[in-house]
This record gives sequence, structure tokens and C-alpha cells, in this order.
Amino acid sequence: MTSAELPAELPKVELHLHFEGAAPPEFIRQLAFEKKIDISRIFAPDGSYAFENFVHFLQVYEAATSVLQTPEDFAQLTRAVLEKSAENGVIYTETFLSPDFCGGGDVAAWREYLHAIQEAANRAEVDFGVIMRGIVTPVRHFGPDQAKRTALCAAETAGDWIVGLGMGGDEGKGHQGDFAYAFDMAREAGLRLTTHAGEFGGPQSVWEAIRDLNVERIGHGVRAIEDRALVQELVARQITLEVCPGSNVVLGLYPDFKTHPIARLRDAGVKVTVSTDDPPFFHTTMRREYDMLAEAFGWGMDDFRALNTVAIDAAFCDEDTRARVK
Ligand code: HPA
Ligand code: ZN
Repeated sequence: MTSAELPAELPKVELHLHFEGAAPPEFIRQLAFEKKIDISRIFAPDGSYAFENFVHFLQVYEAATSVLQTPEDFAQLTRAVLEKSAENGVIYTETFLSPDFCGGGDVAAWREYLHAIQEAANRAEVDFGVIMRGIVTPVRHFGPDQAKRTALCAAETAGDWIVGLGMGGDEGKGHQGDFAYAFDMAREAGLRLTTHAGEFGGPQSVWEAIRDLNVERIGHGVRAIEDRALVQELVARQITLEVCPGSNVVLGLYPDFKTHPIARLRDAGVKVTVSTDDPPFFHTTMRREYDMLAEAFGWGMDDFRALNTVAIDAAFCDEDTRARVK
């Protein structure tokens, strides 16, 4: 099947979407203008986000996020993000939300932001037909102490909407195990667990994620392909990878989709899913990811249906919600 033959309306499940990272640049530019904040340095002449490498990407990301200041800003962002998801045929999305950017890790402030986001998501569900659930995300380079505050925010709001804890940020900083306290707190509150690993951290960071944090999903994880025993471990433990091929290509992990290991991981029996990570930053959408995979590997409808079944089964939502997505 060529990409042109893939039905545009194929329902898609996305498990790895950074909320602020999904903000269209024009949305961020408009807020910056209204609030008189000069972040012109983060934009390329064509208006897109501009960055040189992963660490620079994180800096640009945080600069963009600095204009999101009130619960109302986040409510507007929710609607903008979910409208785009729905345009791409996404029917269910799990989104990383950072209390660090919503009140600095203070539980009372976080509740206010979350309330605004949830209300907007409920309205968007009715209007656009896409279900959103939240995964609270500690930012790794903010350190283990801040991660504890973030995990407390997560634990205090755990339920059928905040469904998980998932660490993002700079994989080059510290070790997964440094954050075990935060992950234990979240687990005890009934939250499901994922962490970024095997992107810039290499296979060792995936081993650490399994051993030290006992996560059931891994953000990216693709560099597990470099370690045969690790691939076997992922298969044995049935760990699901939240793979973001377009993101990996833009950040220079692989030169193109054809050389990306997603197909080899899948064929080895690893549970793989497909997401966009930070779509406008990486000039991608869920539709484009599917098109590129169809073109690179000849994947067709059966492959994509199977991919979505894996994603639905690995979603952190409750069973009622899962049944509505199936
Ligand atoms: N990777 C890791 N951390 C992040 C990202 C990402 O793509 N976006 C925001 N924080
Ligand atoms: Zn990510």
C-alpha cells in the first residue's frame, strides 16, 4: 500500500504527546504579543520553531512555554491542540502535562490549571470527538527534588483523568533511579508509569528504566535495538514503546524513516506504537507519521490497525474509556 491509499480517517490512538510541545507557533506568538514577551529568538524566518539540537530544543520549548501563564491560556491551548489532533483522525490522546509549568509544582495552583484543562478537554471531546487523558510529567533536568513535588501533584489528582506519571526532559542528566522516590509515590497513588529512555540515553537508560523505575511503557526506547538482550527483555515483559519516528529523524537519531528501527523492533516482537512527540516542533502530524511509515516500510491498513490495537491496550485509561475507543 502506498501512503496515498491510506484512508485519512483511519482512527488513531496517540500515547506520547507533550502538551506545550503541541502548541502551534502562531498560538505561542500571539500570546507572546499580547503579554509583551519577546521570544522572537525561538522562531525561524518562516515562523516555525528554530533549534539546533536536542538540548537547544528543550531551551526553545521552555521559552515557548513561558508565555503560557494562566489557567485560561492552558484552556485555550487544550482546544487548539485537540482540534489539530481530531483533524488528523486521532480519537484518543495521552498528553504529558507539567505542573512545573502550571504553578511551579504547587498542588493548589496545579488543581486550578488542571480544572481549566479538563473543562476545555471535555468541551473539545463533544465538539471534535477526541478523548484526552493526562500523564503528569516531571522534567528530568529540574532534578529529583522538583520531581517529588511534581509527583505529589500527580498523586493528589490521580484518577480517571490523570492516569499516569511519565518523565521527560534531558536524558543526559542523572540516572533514572535518582527519580525512584517520585515514581514510587505515583505508583502508590494508583498511577501507571512511563519514562523517556533509549532516545539520547542509549540502551543503558532503558535497562535502568525497567530495573530502577519498573515502568510498563517507555517513551521512545528505540535504541534498545542496539542490545539484543534488551530487545528480548522488552518482549518478555511486554513493555510498550511510545515510538516517535519523525521526532527521532529531526533530532538526528536516524537519517530517515527507512533506517528507523521501528519496523525491526516490531518484527522482533516488541510492542510498538506511533506518536508525534511535539508535532509543530518536528514538522509532523499523526497523519504524516503514518504516511511516512507506509512509504518507508510498505505498511498498510492491517499494520496500522494492529498498531492501534497495541496502543489501545497499552493506554493508561480506565476500562470504560478503553471500551469507547475500541
Ligand atoms: N523529549 C523529552 N522531553 C521533552 C520533550 C521531548 O520531546 N518535549 C518536552 N519535553
Ligand atoms: Zn517525548
